[in-house]
Amino acid sequence: MKKFLVVSCCFLFVVALLPVTTFAADEKGAALLEERCSVCHPSARPKSKQKTPEQWESTVKRMMGKGARLTEEEKDVLVEYLSKTYKP
Ligand code: HEC
Repeated sequence: MKKFLVVSCCFLFVVALLPVTTFAADEKGAALLEERCSVCHPSARPKSKQKTPEQWESTVKRMMGKGARLTEEEKDVLVEYLSKTYKP
């Protein structure tokens, strides 16, 4: 019985945290977009587009080639955010 309680508490804890972490990733993606993608053009430029995840990945990589400052990890967060928010 005790074991069951411990397991269900852990389960509830994880379930309760899930929306929080997705929300945090969204916030981070939005912040990266405003911070790093508005250096050379307004962030409205990417926001006016609708792309598939593959297209966003290649756009962001292209921007990194031009000088956008993102780590690999930040790139992944941003591409995921863009793909979810600005999809066709
Ligand atoms: C170092 C300067 C620079 C930074 C930083 C930058 N861009 Fe760009 N971006 C450009 C230039 C120059 C163009 C126009 C020429 C072109 O499209 O290659 C452009 C065009 C675009 C376009 C329109 C063309 C297309 O492929 O749809 C999008 C979308 C875009 N940028 C998204 C982004 C995103 C997202 C970021 C943040 C990761 C970003 N840019 C950061 C320089 C930059």
